[in-house]
Amino acid sequence: MLSTRQAKVADLPTIVANEQAAYPFPWSEAMLRDSLSSQYLFWAVCSAEQQLVGHLIAQPVLDECHLLNVCLHPKVQGNGYGRALLEQWLQWSQSAGCTHLWLEVRQSNIVAERLYRSLGFQRQALRKNYYQAGPLREDGWVMSKHLDAVI
Ligand SMILES: CC(C)(COP(=O)(O)OP(=O)(O)OC[C@H]1O[C@@H](n2cnc3c(N)ncnc32)[C@H](O)[C@@H]1OP(=O)(O)O)[C@@H](O)C(=O)NCCC(=O)NCCS
Repeated sequence: MLSTRQAKVADLPTIVANEQAAYPFPWSEAMLRDSLSSQYLFWAVCSAEQQLVGHLIAQPVLDECHLLNVCLHPKVQGNGYGRALLEQWLQWSQSAGCTHLWLEVRQSNIVAERLYRSLGFQRQALRKNYYQAGPLREDGWVMSKHLDAVI
């Protein structure tokens, strides 16, 4: 089972390495460092042995929360951890008073999109040329989900 905690600057080298292992076009160290010093939610995801194996970054703004990055090292992918991590983010968002959740996903990222759909996200729009893809660009789906307000 994985656990989450607030990420810290000392985690950056491992976060950068995990990002590079998981994505063909990873976020740069500068982007990740900026995210750490911002008001974003930035979780470090740790294994039972306290190895840092992933991260989740989201931007809460009033009643909305925008998922910016969810990443697990390939060695731990496919074990249900991504689903559990996203469910934890949904719970956190609801208890933080967020009722509208947003994210973007590459058109070719079938695994992630299927996972988001199974958690209740729906396609809202196709953002043309949103993602870097070598010399070309790739479109991305904007997806959203409504959460009931907790009274
Ligand atoms: C996307 C990601 C977070 C999902 O986490 P994960 O732990 O690998 O996914 P899970 O094991 O929780 O599986 C989620 C679903 O995807 C399916 N799945 C996972 N890996 C799969 C694969 N390689 N092929 C097909 N289906 C797969 C699972 O069957 C599961 O569906 P189910 O619950 O109905 O059985 C993770 O794979 C990842 O970090 N990928 C690289 C970065 C990335 O693409 N992030 C998303 C950017 S939008």
